Amino acid sequence: MARILVVDDEEHIRRVLNVLLSKQGYAVGLAAGGQEALDHLTRHVYDAVLCDLRMPDLDGLEVLRRIKRHDPEVPVIIITAYASVDTALAAMKQGAYDYISKPFKEDEILHVLAKALERTRILEENRRLRREIEERFDFSHIVGAAPAMKSIFDTIRKVADTRSTVLIQGESGTGKELVAKAIHYNSPRKHKPLVTVNCAAVPTHLIESEFFGYVRGAFTGADRTKKGLFEEAEGSTIFLDEISDLPPELQAKLLRVLQEGEIRRLGDTASRTVDVRVLAATNRDLEAAVEQGKFREDLYYRLNVIPLNIPPLRERPEDVPLLARHFLVKMAERHGRQVKRLSPEAERVLINQPWPGNVRQLENVIEQAVVMAEGETIGSRNLPTALSREAGGLVVRVPEDRLDLKGLVREATALAERQIIARALEKENGNRTRTAQVLGISRRCLITKIGLYGLADDRPA
Ligand SMILES: Nc1ncnc2c1ncn2[C@@H]1O[C@H](COP(=O)(O)OP(=O)(O)OP(=O)(O)O)[C@@H](O)[C@H]1O
Ligand SMILES: [Mg+2]
Repeated sequence: MARILVVDDEEHIRRVLNVLLSKQGYAVGLAAGGQEALDHLTRHVYDAVLCDLRMPDLDGLEVLRRIKRHDPEVPVIIITAYASVDTALAAMKQGAYDYISKPFKEDEILHVLAKALERTRILEENRRLRREIEERFDFSHIVGAAPAMKSIFDTIRKVADTRSTVLIQGESGTGKELVAKAIHYNSPRKHKPLVTVNCAAVPTHLIESEFFGYVRGAFTGADRTKKGLFEEAEGSTIFLDEISDLPPELQAKLLRVLQEGEIRRLGDTASRTVDVRVLAATNRDLEAAVEQGKFREDLYYRLNVIPLNIPPLRERPEDVPLLARHFLVKMAERHGRQVKRLSPEAERVLINQPWPGNVRQLENVIEQAVVMAEGETIGSRNLPTALSREAGGLVVRVPEDRLDLKGLVREATALAERQIIARALEKENGNRTRTAQVLGISRRCLITKIGLYGLADDRPA
């Protein structure tokens, strides 16, 4: 319910407006003079102010000026019986939203008020969206603790505010688009939208006109001149996704853009300069494509100024629990569920998956599990049955940067032990005596290990 402050020294007008606005469902505040209005505004939040111009204590323009100093965004509508072009202009210059002359029509008041409130709503909506975008591409939303991911974050930070071309390579679902957005939205170009083009999705014969635009008459059906995506991205960044699918003729044209910073619309005789930063991504091995003669070598080198290779999820198992928890929080909020954690057994199953669909697949699995979960904990039985449980059993995934044998074996043993105990505990519903029997160890030994591996708190009730 919107709150409206009515300021007028005439009691009769205040009463009329109060009745009119209350009937519409507005919450109305009433002030008999300028000073009283300002007092109201320091004590309450109002969404709009209707203010008389001539009042004995402070005149409307002065009230308007002070309101604007206090809160520049609240719309103030001036009402006056002494309408003149001069005062109207003065009021608008001081930041009044609109100007209504007495005697007013009720419809007019309501109409202007509704427009003013709508504008506030749009301003707030825009602010919210902008904040959301900034938060979304803030680094804290890209999860990763694996050394390879940390070095990717470092690189993003270093290259974001340059205009270097970046080539992002990684399997499907590893987060290439997320990284491209992080680069753009952390760059000085962030105030303009990132222009994303999926090269695989545009039909070959349309790519050139999509990229570079065309002039009227360039081909049958070109009945008007149209800007291409490179011109749309002027002053911003273009993200060329699935770059390996770019057909050879277009590879040559893209090379020219990168070398000369110029584009030519289809059917045009003149070139025009564009200031566009290029980010490219592919889930195929572009170097191999070059060797096979499918991708121009010179273009490859032009694109690969800064290479960013995102490793597949199976090569960074330490990121799986982090990502899983990140998605758990996100999905619990999205679906309004009270899910709080993963059971150690469920975590084990996740860590041991090969994840051919990488992070996207993990995200989908967690979303399903959150929806299916009954209590606060996601157990392995809430995970999709398609996930291999036993096959993945006790595989130890070796992080890419590990070579020390003894340390690794020690950790693997501990990991195996933790997993077996967690699984047995879950199967026995947390009953320690039975779990110890199943494992063939003493109850005391079990309790020590539960403490050692931090399994106590996750024990299902
Ligand atoms: N490190 C990460 N942290 C948080 N979310 C991630 C991470 N990596 C990927 N995601 C999420 O996983 C999903 C897939 O990521 P994205 O679309 O960026 O992958 P992609 O590499 O572009 O895949 P494709 O090759 O299929 O286009 C998105 O929802 C993204 O937000
Ligand atoms: Mg993608």
